[in-house]
Amino acid sequence: MNEESKKTAGEASALFVEDGMVLGLGTGSTVKYALEAIAKRIKEEGLDVVALPTSKSTEELASSLGIKLSSLKEYSDIDLCIDGADEVDEDFNLIKGGGGAHTREKIIASASKKFIVVVDESKMVEKIGGFPVAVEFLGFGKRLVANQLHRIGGDPRLRGSFETDNGNLIFDTKFYIDDPLSLEDRINSIPGVLENGIFSRRRPERVIVGRGEKHEIIEK
Ligand code: 5RP
Repeated sequence: MNEESKKTAGEASALFVEDGMVLGLGTGSTVKYALEAIAKRIKEEGLDVVALPTSKSTEELASSLGIKLSSLKEYSDIDLCIDGADEVDEDFNLIKGGGGAHTREKIIASASKKFIVVVDESKMVEKIGGFPVAVEFLGFGKRLVANQLHRIGGDPRLRGSFETDNGNLIFDTKFYIDDPLSLEDRINSIPGVLENGIFSRRRPERVIVGRGEKHEIIEK
């Protein structure tokens, strides 16, 4: 059921891609279906788009599907970013980073005029915080980062045997989240932290929720 819902949501997002667009491509198993549907439209309709991937895995998949790729060095303005999420609340605050790609994902989403999030229905929550917040940090500051995360109410757990595409480590950190925006900023103010998986400063304008073979488009 979840897989079908991911497919429905991912595929529906491809319909928002227009000829000539610069795209930001997120990471994960839902975005995979968006990529396949975009590649299909490129082949069948001759759409001319260029895409900026947010991870090595997305880069490899997009390239294998024949999607033309570029980088932020060439394009600093992105028309549309499509990405997944681990949790989405009613105000479109997100938790991302289950795949450990949230730092590049936040950069690409922030550089994008439009931001669409694709999820299966299990990701929609009243309040974010059921899923731990991924905190990417420099290994050099590990002890200090862990102490500071504890101090602001978190429970950091090192993501074992994992290195991000940027060569850093991740603490998956459970928080009780009352004020997502303030927590996002507080975590990022810890020396050694690169970025965390709360997306409250850059929220999507549109969320596509897959519900089995149907989907719902919610807009703000
Ligand atoms: C990666 C992410 C993903 O978008 C998020 O984990 C959702 O992934 P999936 O679609 O596989 O459930 O934030 O860093």
